[in-house]
Amino acid sequence: MSSIQYDFGMVGLGTMGRNLLLNIADHGFAAIGFDLDPAKGKLLEEAASKDTTVKGVSTLAEMVAQLKTPRKVMMLVPAGNPVDIVIKDLLPLLQEGDIIIDGGNSHFTDTLRRITFLEDKKVHFMGMGVSGGESGARFGPSIMPGGDQGAWNYLKPILEAVSAKVNGDPCVAYMGKNAAGHYVKMVHNGIEYAIMQLISEVYDFFKRSMGLDNDELHEIFKKWNDGELQSFLVEITANIFPRKDDLGDGRLIDVILDKAGSKGTGKWTSQEAMDLPVPLPTVDLAVAMRDLSAYKDERVSAEDVYKPKVKAFTADKEKAIQVMHDALFLSTLICYAQGLAMLAKASAERKMDIPLKDVVRIWRGGCIIRSTLLETFTAAYKKQPQLTNILLDKKIASIVKKKQANLRRAVQLFAGARVPAGAMSSSLAYFDAYTSGRMPTNLIQAQRDFFGAHTYQRIDQSGSFHTEW
Ligand code: 6PG
Repeated sequence: MSSIQYDFGMVGLGTMGRNLLLNIADHGFAAIGFDLDPAKGKLLEEAASKDTTVKGVSTLAEMVAQLKTPRKVMMLVPAGNPVDIVIKDLLPLLQEGDIIIDGGNSHFTDTLRRITFLEDKKVHFMGMGVSGGESGARFGPSIMPGGDQGAWNYLKPILEAVSAKVNGDPCVAYMGKNAAGHYVKMVHNGIEYAIMQLISEVYDFFKRSMGLDNDELHEIFKKWNDGELQSFLVEITANIFPRKDDLGDGRLIDVILDKAGSKGTGKWTSQEAMDLPVPLPTVDLAVAMRDLSAYKDERVSAEDVYKPKVKAFTADKEKAIQVMHDALFLSTLICYAQGLAMLAKASAERKMDIPLKDVVRIWRGGCIIRSTLLETFTAAYKKQPQLTNILLDKKIASIVKKKQANLRRAVQLFAGARVPAGAMSSSLAYFDAYTSGRMPTNLIQAQRDFFGAHTYQRIDQSGSFHTEW
């Protein structure tokens, strides 16, 4: 066995684990990784940069024995049972003060259970969200650690070194107590689902109603990415359209089956939002549309029954593109607003003390939902760290006011053309309801009292009332 003492250990050398470990090694830390599959250890060593210290091993004991104390062991294994199995196998090998980090997309309730389980074992445990996919892991992800503050202090220098940077500012910060790290990552993913759905709705209108081809779509999204819509998701969307199909003629996008996969984090966000409760309609819709996409055969049959005709858009194309630009910008802003409002509520309800100003700051770089909009949110939370909803910020309100007419126009265009725009419509509905001092829920209360004697409150007197309707 070599005499090198390693700074950081990784359990699971899949794409994410391998790339993050290589990133850690590139920053001068000696890195060791374990995977049951020896081929993955070999792949890790082969991919290591020159003059870095990287080793792959195929037993957990071998890895733990070569780590400096306190040992820092990160797991990047599939969420669920595999995480519990690794913890169980690690525990006899570790000693007091060592640190286990779960860097996968674990459900926050599993993280809470693991925190309780590990409390009396005297081993630090940290639930940590990592965003940015393969290239993020390799060259700078956004990192969302939460829970054990002691562990955070030990890990800070390594995580700050490997994270993405925005103007030199590392995209990692302590996200709060308990399962805050995984909670913030879950909401990040809910927003990710919503923005992807919004972009796909705009694509649908451009393609089926306006008849734009892939080159035109590429140009539009590329131009948008140079302006206020600049974001990772708009950027990759622009780059998808020109891609040729290696297995046939034409463009790849046109031969991809319209059934969306998912690993469940969007659904978790919606489920948790309903439990809090906090409204999250754009994410709900995004999850629903992925679900509906799976019913391919049934959709094809229904299309045969109703024979829908998408109405061709024939008016001023340049104007319509600008309308869609503003609508995408504002509906995206509104879905961030929903997600951040959820974090504000959950922070108190679930006793996490989530620093929202740091959440938006570390989402500016490295992660899938990074966008220039996050700069605007960072400025808003800097002024008011306890802001319950970014739509209440004066500067943001002035931006929203300028765009809202085009969001409304876009939803009309979608409906008129018979192109579904569930996410965009729900962003607008959320905005219209959130900014209505009076909602029609007085009628719901009357109905509840009518059929179930559920009682209601009045606007002019305090107390609880029931009427024999
Ligand atoms: C990230 C992503 C990532 C997520 C994948 C797949 O932040 O890097 O959120 O963690 O797991 O994007 O998600 P779905 O399979 O659910 O679309």
